[in-house]
Amino acid sequence: MLSGETHHQLSTLAAHEGLRWVAEHFHTAKFASSFGEEDQVITQLIASQHLSIGIFTLDTGRLFQETYDLIDLTRANYKIDIDVLFPDATEVEKYVKDKGINGFYNSVDNRKECCGIRKIHPLNRALSGVDLWVTGLRRSQSSNRQLMQKVEWIPEYNLIKYNPLFDWSDEDMQQHIEAHHIPLNTLHKKGFPSIGCAPCTRAIAPGEDLRAGRWWWEGSAKECGLHETKAGYNPV
Ligand code: ADX
Ligand code: SF4
Repeated sequence: MLSGETHHQLSTLAAHEGLRWVAEHFHTAKFASSFGEEDQVITQLIASQHLSIGIFTLDTGRLFQETYDLIDLTRANYKIDIDVLFPDATEVEKYVKDKGINGFYNSVDNRKECCGIRKIHPLNRALSGVDLWVTGLRRSQSSNRQLMQKVEWIPEYNLIKYNPLFDWSDEDMQQHIEAHHIPLNTLHKKGFPSIGCAPCTRAIAPGEDLRAGRWWWEGSAKECGLHETKAGYNPV
């Protein structure tokens, strides 16, 4: 449950303090990293304070080479463990047989099914038994994300979701990244502010929404389902 005290602390504390508070008050907190800029900032905040928050990533099998390079670089740079979770091989094999290796381009349903198999099912596994889930969501990433919250109760997973950088501006991000020499995905400098799977991410033009390069052929809200839960604040 999300108590009023937890909601208050995590809503008001600065990101580094909030993460420390999480490590002190939750036994099974986990951080999901996709190695985006926000995730790299959170990893630095966790590693530099030696916080006992487990870090995992969902390797869909379709990531960019640059992302794989950053996984190893981050692990070595901060001397930390990162759990890499893979999708179920049988599910992927069936999908490829039925829909094709790049079947996600053919319909929104096909695309969601691929995200389900390659991301959501492994996420369900990663979050089993977890009481607090840290993510790198930021309000200004897209219009859709304006509707999200910094601290939420997620009934589907029976846990608290905490987005410590939710209120950070682009300037806050750049200042922190430079001040702490945080290693980043080299694709960011090539016009990719938001990076997911290689076949489903492209560079954006100046002035476009930060997530415009994700599933660009769809007119959808550009979410894969990872953050599409019926969240709400239910203090006890
Ligand atoms: S997504 O839903 O469209 O893929 P986005 O790439 O913006 O999300 O990332 C938002 C947050 O979701 C990240 O900061 C991270 O916490 C989590 N996330 C997204 N993709 C992954 C992944 N492959 N592995 C682990 N966490 C992820
Ligand atoms: Fe599949 Fe594309 Fe979703 Fe990755 S982003 S899991 S390749 S549909």
